[in-house]
Amino acid sequence: MDHRPLGRTDLRIAPLVFGGNVFGWTADEATSFRLLDAFVDHGFDAIDTADVYSAWVPGHRGGESEAIIGRWLAANPGKRDKVSIFTKVGSDLGEGRKGLSARWIAQAADDSLRRLQTDRIDLYFSHWPDAEAPYEETLGAYEALRAAGKIRHVGASNLDAAQLEAALGVSAAKGLPRYDVLQPEYNLYDRAGFEGPLRDLVLREAIGVVTYFSLASGFLSGKYRSEADLAGSRRGDAVKKYLNARGQRILSALDEVAADHGARPAEVALAWLMASPGVTAPIASATSTEQLASLARAAELRLSTEQKARLDAAGDTASQDGNRP
Ligand SMILES: NC(=O)c1ccc[n+]([C@@H]2O[C@H](COP(=O)([O-])OP(=O)(O)OC[C@H]3O[C@@H](n4cnc5c(N)ncnc54)[C@H](OP(=O)(O)O)[C@@H]3O)[C@@H](O)[C@H]2O)c1
Repeated sequence: MDHRPLGRTDLRIAPLVFGGNVFGWTADEATSFRLLDAFVDHGFDAIDTADVYSAWVPGHRGGESEAIIGRWLAANPGKRDKVSIFTKVGSDLGEGRKGLSARWIAQAADDSLRRLQTDRIDLYFSHWPDAEAPYEETLGAYEALRAAGKIRHVGASNLDAAQLEAALGVSAAKGLPRYDVLQPEYNLYDRAGFEGPLRDLVLREAIGVVTYFSLASGFLSGKYRSEADLAGSRRGDAVKKYLNARGQRILSALDEVAADHGARPAEVALAWLMASPGVTAPIASATSTEQLASLARAAELRLSTEQKARLDAAGDTASQDGNRP
């Protein structure tokens, strides 16, 4: 499996990052351990989580995903050095525990390290922009964590081009850590947020990119083709917005290219991201070892120029009917 440099960090990662929001949500602890073991056995080496995962599950408070990863690391002493751990700060955990202030970042990093049962976070993301925290304060807090050896690199999620450019300017002017990795939403269907000024900026600045919702919450696997298919899925609400004519065109193109390779649509959707300009690695999750095997096949799938163009055209937001259903 080819490994790719993650921007200007010293991390080199396999071309697919495990999405940890399923741990304690759609994957119970025993399943999560099996998935993590299989992930490493397939040769992958980076795991993405966040302090807030999975606070949306009734009865959860956030931290459940990190705690499962922590117990897996504790149960498998040899594994810590085989994986890079990415986590995030900034989402609202309730009781004022949110945002990117220096005070909260210092506390949140210690909380994450404790749950993860490790002494370092390899890549620490600002989860969402915080208009109330100046970049200088946030990046200064990261500098203190880095000096203490608690984090190694910093990244940002959900920033637009103007916000990322402003943050990079502060890093350069003040000699503070820079956001070396971006985590945007990006997949064959949701393209407008990344393509354009943001992609131009990450290419110009050699910023690593790990994309989220890479499978559009499972829609790009092709298993949801009608409202009836959503019944019984905990992802149903998130997938509904894709059930329109443009979504169907994308699935048809995925079906065609998948048939060319004897592959599955999810594998083609991930291979398209892996071959997309600016993208270092998609983040994707799985809830079974069968799905995980599919993610591994995606990392070996090579699309031809013609296949890539066919997929690009099917999801092209600039096409005559754009995003309209
Ligand atoms: N930075 C942010 O703001 C942000 C926001 C959201 C997510 N994320 C990150 O991105 C990661 C990925 O997001 P996500 O897991 O929500 O969405 P996703 O990767 O787009 O969808 C993954 C889901 O699709 C289904 N799936 C995967 N492989 C499949 C296959 N071969 N066949 C059929 N179904 C398959 C599984 O769900 P089922 O089995 O349940 O159908 C799986 O959990 C998260 O874990 C998180 O780390 C970041």
